[in-house]
Amino acid sequence: MRKISSYVCEGLLTLARPFYRVGLISARDIDRATTLLATEFCDREPLSKILKISPEELTPFFRLQVEHAIKTGLVVTAKNLRGGIIGAAVIEDPRSPFSPGEFAISSKFEAIGALLEKIPDPEASAGQRYGYASLAAVRRGSNGKIILSLMVLGVALELQKRGFTHAYAKVTNRGILSIMRKMEKFIPARDFFKAVSSHHHNLVWTQDDGTPHEKIIRVDVVSWPLSLD
Ligand SMILES: CC(C)(COP(=O)(O)OP(=O)(O)OC[C@H]1O[C@@H](n2cnc3c(N)ncnc32)[C@H](O)[C@@H]1OP(=O)(O)O)[C@@H](O)C(=O)NCCC(=O)NCCS
Repeated sequence: MRKISSYVCEGLLTLARPFYRVGLISARDIDRATTLLATEFCDREPLSKILKISPEELTPFFRLQVEHAIKTGLVVTAKNLRGGIIGAAVIEDPRSPFSPGEFAISSKFEAIGALLEKIPDPEASAGQRYGYASLAAVRRGSNGKIILSLMVLGVALELQKRGFTHAYAKVTNRGILSIMRKMEKFIPARDFFKAVSSHHHNLVWTQDDGTPHEKIIRVDVVSWPLSLD
């Protein structure tokens, strides 16, 4: 397997610095990053859209997820030069999985959880350690392709520093696949990204008026190695 060059990752992030800053989240940015994730998911993520989840419903749940990832995994943000947050990515360590605890889960969250749980996580072999990219979003109108690509580079560098060997995601938004495929042209590693498997499962939920609904959803599991030079 060819390696992704950490110099290339760092070089691309440095080239982007006059325009965008990508780095670990700071404590004072937690609220803004959580709001961005909730707003963009409700606007553009297929499952949240189908279930008509509101940002008000999603924000407290995402806040717990962000806080958990800060402790056990990592959260990366992208900022513009005015310091505005335009992207966020949440990476969990599957060895310390997120649990919503006492949080009152609605039937919509249960439906998403049940769907994602049906899809197997990639198995880590001996010596491998996987990070799970659970949430990622870019503010609408902020050049999603570039910002998402830069966040993937920032995440790759940070995870690699912490001893993770791979990262993976369960992708419901096919726009992400398209962006990551394009990244392969710029990063000299054929195995930077690959779709491991594609799954079709039934999303089953009850609407507010009590009507039962279901819809077949496609989720791609993608993984990328973090074996940097
Ligand atoms: C994912 C995200 C960062 C992409 O940002 P973006 O570049 O602004 O998004 P776009 O809608 O322009 O999509 C990017 C590309 O994917 C393509 N695409 C979008 N939906 C697609 C679909 N259903 N099937 C195939 N391609 C699709 C677009 O055509 C575009 O390709 P192009 O550059 O060749 O035109 C943004 O949509 C987002 O923040 N979404 C909310 C959160 C979310 O869905 N997270 C991911 C959960 S898996």
